[in-house]
Amino acid sequence: MIKYTLSVKSLMEQQADAYVLCLPEDFAFSKELRTIAQDYFPSLENLIERRKFTGKAQSSLIIQMHKDDKPCSLILLGVGKKEDKKVEHYRRALGVLVRLSEQHEIKTIALQLPSSAMFGVTPEQLGQETSIILPMAAYYFDDFFTEKKQKDFDITLVVDAKHKITLKKGVDAGIVISDAVNEARHWIDLPPEKLTPIELAGKAKKIAKKNGLKMTEFTEKEIIKKGMGGLAGVGQGSDRDAHLVILEYKAKNKNAETICFVGKGITFDSGGLSLKPPQYMETMKEDMSGAAAVLAAIDALAQLKPSVNIVVVMPLSENLPSGKATKPGDVLKFYNGKTAEVLNTDAEGRLILGDALAYAEKHYDLDALVDVATLTGSCAYALGPFFTGMLSQDAALSKKVQNAADRTGDRVWPLPFDNDYAKAVESKVADICNIGNPKYKAGAIMAAFFLKHFVEKTPWVHLDIAGTAFDVPDIPYYRTGATGSSVRLLIDLARNWK
Ligand code: BES
Ligand code: MG
Ligand code: ZN
Repeated sequence: MIKYTLSVKSLMEQQADAYVLCLPEDFAFSKELRTIAQDYFPSLENLIERRKFTGKAQSSLIIQMHKDDKPCSLILLGVGKKEDKKVEHYRRALGVLVRLSEQHEIKTIALQLPSSAMFGVTPEQLGQETSIILPMAAYYFDDFFTEKKQKDFDITLVVDAKHKITLKKGVDAGIVISDAVNEARHWIDLPPEKLTPIELAGKAKKIAKKNGLKMTEFTEKEIIKKGMGGLAGVGQGSDRDAHLVILEYKAKNKNAETICFVGKGITFDSGGLSLKPPQYMETMKEDMSGAAAVLAAIDALAQLKPSVNIVVVMPLSENLPSGKATKPGDVLKFYNGKTAEVLNTDAEGRLILGDALAYAEKHYDLDALVDVATLTGSCAYALGPFFTGMLSQDAALSKKVQNAADRTGDRVWPLPFDNDYAKAVESKVADICNIGNPKYKAGAIMAAFFLKHFVEKTPWVHLDIAGTAFDVPDIPYYRTGATGSSVRLLIDLARNWK
């Protein structure tokens, strides 16, 4: 937990374990630093030079000093070149701050908020980024340690009086957003035995109740009866039932547009009969990261109340081998009447998403459709851990998603989604095949072309988060485990919908 206080008193008038300043590259030894030096640490300028702190992005300097006869720390955080105007530098500086505070047992922090102009954002945005990132950095999946690992912090944000009100607005929204990100991360980090399809459906039920959202849920029996052969076909290998969960947020304005978020919810992906090798299976509890992202996003949005309607669709299932499991060679029939040959049961994401996308289009009058899925290893290899793969043939919606990604730091990179690849998913015995023809090679693109058979008319963006959902290295506000990929992006997309 992080407790925030906004204060207009100066940094050194605060009472804290650590006093924190953000400094750009090649900063001047300003009046502010000179005052601190004078009052608390005469050789400060010399020390900064000797320890070669220049304000480079992601760098820091921690100095032990005394204030009112108590030991405390001065922390300088590098935020990179001023002319870069990169708010991502600020995010990472906050991540570094939390890591330093953890190491040095710092509990109370006085943070001088830097000027928002330095990062090309408004004071409100700066406040929001601050309260999004600090709790993200502090998040620790410690449910199964005998000793709690996550640290609590008391943080005073030292702000300019003239921006206090707008900053506070941003901080308050940021708290809702980071709660959602960390909620998604927690579901993803939970062991697969603790977060089964019915458990995740239960989380959705709680969120619906708390926020007054409409919820529809189909059990496996109903899924079969409705002709959702993709979701049923994946679910049938497991003793646990598959579920389909739909949540709806309604905006106040009567003629609001409607956007739909669909999230892949495989709570454990063994590969099914096309069993994964053990190493590839180790992190496959992460395979519900798409469902977690869309559920957490609507939880936050129900509180932030954007002026666009939101529909969230989550197909939930395990993917396990058994005597009842779908076999390579089987043909499944989907909700929209199409059939697919299953040649590899490990390409199950597209099977459950096919039904979910078709259901969404049939039952809602949608202005946009965004699906989020840990869909292909191919995407993770193509882009690595820092960019989500974005595939779309709708330029306007892609632009909106790209802008949301750029604003939030939840980054996406477009992959070509040209019809030349469409033939890759043809089958000899059914309408389509669940694995691509090896001649076409591009696994992430072929998977998206499979999904395209289930979106007829709605502007649609597919986000492949296989690389970004889990175990992202080097970013100081993440830790090993779930990142909450796409939660910030989806929330921003809805809040900035016009
Ligand atoms: N869940 C995996 C994709 C994945 C891989 C997610 C690595 C996160 C990290 C998906 O269901 C899968 O197994 N895809 C196969 C498809 C193939 C059989 C066509 C893959 O990418 O290897
Ligand atoms: Mg089952
Ligand atoms: Zn799989």
